[in-house]
Amino acid sequence: MYGKEARSKQEIVVLASGRGSNFQALIDAGQAGYFPGIIARLITDNPDAHAIRRAKDAGIPVSVLDFASFPDRAAYEAALVLEMEECDPELFVLAGYMRILPEAIVRTFPGRIINIHPALLPSFPGLRAPRQAFEYGVKVSGCTVHFVDEGTDTGPIVIQRCIPVEEDDDEESLAARILVEEHRILAEAVRLFLEGRIRMAGRWVGIR
Ligand code: GRF
Repeated sequence: MYGKEARSKQEIVVLASGRGSNFQALIDAGQAGYFPGIIARLITDNPDAHAIRRAKDAGIPVSVLDFASFPDRAAYEAALVLEMEECDPELFVLAGYMRILPEAIVRTFPGRIINIHPALLPSFPGLRAPRQAFEYGVKVSGCTVHFVDEGTDTGPIVIQRCIPVEEDDDEESLAARILVEEHRILAEAVRLFLEGRIRMAGRWVGIR
């Protein structure tokens, strides 16, 4: 059991599928005392995720739910629900988690799951957002932290930051500058949430 019982600190649980640089930003912020809580666990669907190495280096427990080892999506999602219910942290953070969460999970944790997205939503939801923005020809892009709802990158917006697209940018250089800002606003959103400074009213998210 690793639920809310006998807990002295607020907990966050991170879901990540790959490189894990946003996860690392949260590890660093947590270790620096930037937010009032601890990262209690990493959950990943990818046994090869570099995020696992980052968790181990930081002494954070890892749950690997290898998507490929389940007979179908429903079986994977059932296992994920159980794992998330078992953890039951104050906040779940999707930090480069590359799957859509099923409605059952979103409904189980209303207002307790946030996601980082590398574009100014509602523009360019889904995969490869920096490429979408670059190919569209926008002059300003950025990143968004939002609550997760049943849609794809459609939930109420918590924080956004703008990144101008420079004349000599390509997809990679734009994505790299956005990523730097992602790391900042994700940690900031976690801090605001754990400090109880976020209020949601429908789509409107107020910060005090
Ligand atoms: C980030 O750009 C994140 O916004 C997107 O996927 C990327 C993951 O990068 N959802 P990392 O694994 O955090 O380095």
